[in-house]
Amino acid sequence: MNSTANQSLMLGKGESGDIKISLKTLQRHFGCFGSSGSGKTVMSKVLVEELARNGIPVIAFDPQGDISSLALLADRDTLAKNGADQAIRDDFAEKVEVVVWTPASSKGMPICINPLQFGNLDKSSSEDRTRYFSSIALNIASLIGYDLDSDDGKSAEAVLSVLFEHEHSHGRVLHNFSDVVKILQDLPESIAETVSAVASKKFMSGLIKKLSLLTIGSRKLIFQNGVPANIDVLLGRDGSTKAAAEAEAKVAAKTAGEAEAEAANAAVYSKAAAKTAAEAAKTAAEAADDANAAVDANAAARTAAEAEAKVAAAAKAAAKAADAAKTSAEANTAVKAADKKTRISVIYLNTLHSVEEKEFFIAGIAQLLYSWMLKHPLSDGQQGLQCAMFIDEVAPYIPPVKAPACKQSLELLFRQGRKYGVSCIIATQSPGDIDYKAIGQFSTFVLGTLNTKQDIEKVKRRLESVAPKEIDFITNKLPALKPGNFLAISPDEFERVLEMKTRWLVTEHRALAEESLSELKPAGLQEFYNKSIATSDHVTGSRLIIPEAKLPPVDDQIESINHVTVIEIQAEPEEEEISSKSSKGSGNKQKNKLEKVLVVQEVVKERDIKKNIRPHLSGRIIKSERLEQSRFKYLPLVKVDLTFIEEKGFLWKSKTKIPENLYLNYKTRELFYVLKQQFQFSQIVHSDPNKIEDLDDHCVMEESPRIEVDFRFGALDKKKLNKSAIKKLMERKYQSEVNDVELVLFPVYECTIKDKKKNKSRKIFLDAIFGNPILGI
Ligand SMILES: Nc1ncnc2c1ncn2[C@@H]1O[C@H](COP(=O)(O)OP(=O)(O)OP(=O)(O)O)[C@@H](O)[C@H]1O
Ligand SMILES: [Mg+2]
Repeated sequence: MNSTANQSLMLGKGESGDIKISLKTLQRHFGCFGSSGSGKTVMSKVLVEELARNGIPVIAFDPQGDISSLALLADRDTLAKNGADQAIRDDFAEKVEVVVWTPASSKGMPICINPLQFGNLDKSSSEDRTRYFSSIALNIASLIGYDLDSDDGKSAEAVLSVLFEHEHSHGRVLHNFSDVVKILQDLPESIAETVSAVASKKFMSGLIKKLSLLTIGSRKLIFQNGVPANIDVLLGRDGSTKAAAEAEAKVAAKTAGEAEAEAANAAVYSKAAAKTAAEAAKTAAEAADDANAAVDANAAARTAAEAEAKVAAAAKAAAKAADAAKTSAEANTAVKAADKKTRISVIYLNTLHSVEEKEFFIAGIAQLLYSWMLKHPLSDGQQGLQCAMFIDEVAPYIPPVKAPACKQSLELLFRQGRKYGVSCIIATQSPGDIDYKAIGQFSTFVLGTLNTKQDIEKVKRRLESVAPKEIDFITNKLPALKPGNFLAISPDEFERVLEMKTRWLVTEHRALAEESLSELKPAGLQEFYNKSIATSDHVTGSRLIIPEAKLPPVDDQIESINHVTVIEIQAEPEEEEISSKSSKGSGNKQKNKLEKVLVVQEVVKERDIKKNIRPHLSGRIIKSERLEQSRFKYLPLVKVDLTFIEEKGFLWKSKTKIPENLYLNYKTRELFYVLKQQFQFSQIVHSDPNKIEDLDDHCVMEESPRIEVDFRFGALDKKKLNKSAIKKLMERKYQSEVNDVELVLFPVYECTIKDKKKNKSRKIFLDAIFGNPILGI
């Protein structure tokens, strides 16, 4: 990490030679924008390769699995074919170490974030502490599904901040979310009043319920499975590389010693055996001339053969010893080189299953990086970089309107990183979907082809202050750029906008599946980190078993074989009404329109549908079907807020109440849940809630006045939202109490698929969260 500001990194070639960028320029961050396939991930990875081989460690978030392949060196033939410089490959191999971390999974190096560790705050000022508690509270509130801009989001943040501050000031440690839940259930007197001023009883029970979800199922893995996240660990500044190399060298030295002893031993026998063999061969030759001595000749020949085998074994042992000695020597060199290795820590995000979990993880690391840099300022006059953070496909994390928890943490890094030598690198295919104010601190932009007007406009707006004179040149060029070709705009570095072609990567570029990550784990490092890996055995999460059960509709007749009521988007007819509370007479019309309804926020946009539907069209490469049209709609669901009662113990039974939401098909009351990123309706529930993922795990919901939602409420059968009927149904099936039922609208795309030859069409419903077909619809 002894970087100098003038050191420069080779990104590719332009008209008049190499395009280089200095570390000093990178202090003011780097943004790469280009539509899908323009080569922006490759471009950003080139920069990451260059940073690391120049001694700057990088923390890289990998949303698509293709950053992790930085851990695989490209083969020399491919490099030769693409005109890449083999010397860069050798340099990278010698100086860089890539570790792929997997949150909530042990496929790569497992990593977790425990946001409740406040031990290192003791020395901070009280303002810093308050700010820190607030940012952690925001991150948690967002993870459990609160919209941070809403009143509820603000209340959640306030309650959690107060609680954290209180517990910390009393020197108490919160081990996990079960501890937080316990305190919320029985608030200490000194904070009860403050809390009740910002949160009603109903709100508190909702908050407790949402937090309880963090103590069960796969969610708790995020906090408890793996090496606790720490910036020194991610930057390889924890001595792990050297310790791992030393451990490996020790093993190699032992193996080499054993092989050497074996070879020496074999050599002694071999010498004697060689003599015996020679004598025996001579005896055999002499005996062969004498017919009477045939028996002696055979025996001598046998002795000679045995002796020769011993000689051969000795030679083999010697070769093995030489190999082991070589390995050991290499391991010793690795120990010496360990101090000079620069780490790239890739954080593989696909082991996290929801947007909130990803936001939570990114925010958590950004918060850690922020507090790390405050403690590690650049020394006087130092202009270089200490480290870099790269986020590919950054759009969901710094959106223009909403403010997910991670946006705040990232903005803080963008604003202050320069001072501390922390460079931020971002890439996105849709610059139109990011908050252009958030990237106000970025001074270098590398643009690949952009096709949509909205994206070009957004880029134009940002570049007005960076390259005002060349805006027209840039906007004219952008639509026609080929993959791998970019416009580089960096006023600190280049006098004008430059056209460039990225250099070829010296590592592979392909998306790695979670399963293949285990092969990338360096044994020594794994052993080193095993010591600090927290096991989840001591975790006090309650388990709850839902027995296998069928969920028949409570009504005796099923109204239709069509399972789901899909309501077309159209204006709500004046006279039609639906409400969870009974509403009679037209005097209530206006009131009902203002009444709020829970709406799941869509993640997948209409423009992505074509891409999402493609794998589901018939035909492998050449498709025999095409997407004729897609329509956005809402599926009505019933949200059942219930409390499961779990009985534990054999002699002394204890009851645990676990709050949970279940979601049902509005019409048939089949359960709506998620399995492997696929929403489905099913009558059979065959798992415990640890395994059931549902809307709470994957969706953000907002309450909207009904008048603002494009949905025909009037077409819904009000009887279906009858609380006592649903209560009867649920209580018949589970040991549970139903607290409330509510209408929820779930966004889908109804896709009409047409066969290209036959005049046939079919329908697929894609959920608007993952963009996958909904099963059982
Ligand atoms: N090792 C490599 N070095 C440089 N370019 C490569 C390498 N391997 C593949 N490519 C090229 O990179 C391009 C893919 O680029 P990349 O994955 O960076 O696109 P992208 O803009 O990130 O797209 P997406 O939006 O789909 O993520 C392909 O055109 C491919 O030919
Ligand atoms: Mg990409």
